[in-house]
Amino acid sequence: MVKIYGHHISGKSTKSDSRKTFQVLNPSNEKVIAKFQLGTKKDINKAVEAASQAHKKWSSVPAPKRGEILLEIAKILKKRKQQLGKLESTEMGKILQEGLGDVQEAIDVFEYMAGEGRRLFGYTTPSELLHKSCYTIRQSLGVIGVITPWNFPIAIPAWKIAPALICGNSIVLKPSSDTPMCAYELVKICEEAGVPKGVINIVTGSGSEVGAEIIKHPKIRGISFTGSRSVGEFVTQNAGLKKVGLELGGKNPIVIMDDANLNLALKGVIFGAFGTTGQRCTASSRIIVHNKVFKEFEEMLVEKTSKLRVGNPLQSTTDVGPLINNAAVEKVHNYTNIGKKEYAKLLCGGEKIGTKGFFYKPTIFTNVTPKMRIAQEEIFGPTTVLIKVNNLKEAIDVCNSVDYGLSASIYTKDISNAYLFIEKVESGIAYVNAPTIGAEVHLPFGGIKNTGNGTREAGIEGIHEFSETKTVYIDYSGNLQKSQGIKWNQK
Ligand code: UN1
Repeated sequence: MVKIYGHHISGKSTKSDSRKTFQVLNPSNEKVIAKFQLGTKKDINKAVEAASQAHKKWSSVPAPKRGEILLEIAKILKKRKQQLGKLESTEMGKILQEGLGDVQEAIDVFEYMAGEGRRLFGYTTPSELLHKSCYTIRQSLGVIGVITPWNFPIAIPAWKIAPALICGNSIVLKPSSDTPMCAYELVKICEEAGVPKGVINIVTGSGSEVGAEIIKHPKIRGISFTGSRSVGEFVTQNAGLKKVGLELGGKNPIVIMDDANLNLALKGVIFGAFGTTGQRCTASSRIIVHNKVFKEFEEMLVEKTSKLRVGNPLQSTTDVGPLINNAAVEKVHNYTNIGKKEYAKLLCGGEKIGTKGFFYKPTIFTNVTPKMRIAQEEIFGPTTVLIKVNNLKEAIDVCNSVDYGLSASIYTKDISNAYLFIEKVESGIAYVNAPTIGAEVHLPFGGIKNTGNGTREAGIEGIHEFSETKTVYIDYSGNLQKSQGIKWNQK
């Protein structure tokens, strides 16, 4: 018997108004591992009501006290790291080492945001007038709609929940229908640590119904969404005047210059392109190589890639787990066909593995030109492309020829190359001698162009996403003082 989960509203397990459920599969063997409620508009209204009530109390808890609870969440996550890491591998399919990394990222962000409880800095600044003080404070928005993807099923909800909580908001969370168990475990831990019931509510179901209701709901004041560009565009068109934070796609390049340490670059490319089975918005999906080392690097890459062991993510010998679901396999395979039609040369991979589970061979295309669809569009799977260039300027032009701008990397030993790349590459994150993946939670995360709407998550900028600024003026002069030098003598 598989467990049937309810929505989580006011700390209680609640059945959906639809009386319908959906199934969650283990992507390694396609077995049903749980069932969840197929939510409706009514369910969202209930959750928003619960969150609105809870917000009143939670926002008046002093932020350092909220911070103590966040620290407790981090402690419980640490204790359950192994168990949660395994759940990640079972529900999402990432290899155990990466599952543990995902949990660690959640621990890190709760620890970091706990500390923010004793900061949440505003600023003070002098007034242009005598005996007047000016400063800013940070306040909560209210109810936040949090819509999260499946690729970091604990870390990404944590990136959003931790700053939302420390700023005093309450939450309606819709986790991806592929990985709701991970989100549930996280929310249960939050409540165990002392987050009052009703502060975080979960409603599961489809994006088109539950997601859309959250995005449009008049009592929700902010939306934080990570996922596809098309849904991101839906959010901007339907969220009205809510404060919106978006993390969308990427087509992240690694540039390999002729002076690069090729062995180091090889390790970086393998991790960046095939880590998490390529299912990261930061995945290294374009490898832009200087012509002097192109052939050599191509051979090295194919040799190493063909040795990657694809299989059960819980086995310690596995390098690459499955894709998330069958639609993902079809999408990735469709891009293999597109690449072939574009006359790119398939060097390895390009096919599904086995009959059970959503496994796909790590895939490399060469003879790729920058305008090909496989060099422009986000594939979100274990596919990367090799593009040949003659110099750094051309490499940077190729980097910038896509309409995404999340993460970009260069391998070089020349400091001028590195700095020029950092200056000119169009991306929110730049790496030198490291792949495009591997963000740390105390630094801002996010991209430019169609990767988002200019907001950043994590670090101090993550606080900005989930708080409002109030500007305060206190005049203790005892006179009506006028700024901007206005002279107006009232009679
Ligand atoms: C994502 O793929 O949605 O830096 C986020 C990284 C991860 C974040 C990825 N920590 O690759």
